[in-house]
Amino acid sequence: MVNRDHGLKQIQTQYSPTLVPSLANYETILLERRVAASLTQLLEKIGSRGRIIPVSGYRSKAEQEKLYQDSLIENGRNFTEQYVAYPGCSEHQTGLAIDLGENLAEIDFIRPSFPYTGIYSHFRELAADYGFIERYSRGKEQITRISHEPWHFRYVGYPHARIMERHSFCLEEYIQFLSDFPKNGQHYIFTEKGKEFEVYHVKGMDEETVIEIPKDCLYQISGNNVDGFIVTIWSNPL
Ligand code: DAL
Ligand code: ZN
Repeated sequence: MVNRDHGLKQIQTQYSPTLVPSLANYETILLERRVAASLTQLLEKIGSRGRIIPVSGYRSKAEQEKLYQDSLIENGRNFTEQYVAYPGCSEHQTGLAIDLGENLAEIDFIRPSFPYTGIYSHFRELAADYGFIERYSRGKEQITRISHEPWHFRYVGYPHARIMERHSFCLEEYIQFLSDFPKNGQHYIFTEKGKEFEVYHVKGMDEETVIEIPKDCLYQISGNNVDGFIVTIWSNPL
């Protein structure tokens, strides 16, 4: 999770996304490789070619800084704080966030149009299956400290996107929720379509954190950029 209170610390240490074009023919709008693959699959599934386009993907800290400063001059502080994350604190710096737009003649770079109707609504219906969430939803502004952004999607992966959708959690709430499922306590179990997942939180240690995983299982460990790690285990992968 990257937000105003939790800047991207890991960028200095081990986090370096493998960046690729977000979509064929959009060579300058980059995303982390698995995010681009998932986005491409989702857009192909709904047949949105040419109607939904990437507007902004990966941004370096310097690019976020420029966007922030330019917006302060053009739009003022109030608008900028609502719609542009503070440099160092933007999800766009992770390569896991994408702003999508309706393919109009003029596209607003900071606030592209991405409606709740038609093909855009179809995208939203399937987004979580492909690991995407609308990151800054209406009603969560007090928590995210960013205004409602219908165009900004964050890749958190499956099953996390579905769990968040089921509970109507924004990312801040989800990270908090998972801290109630520690390694040595009850784990969160999520089942869907005959698949079962186990999710739990491991607190990070100062020097090194050792995470033991059951033998022969499919798992993922993800730093939460707050206080530790989220472990996901695919209980019955086959
Ligand atoms: N528009 C989002 C908040 C960003 O700048 O990262
Ligand atoms: Zn965005």
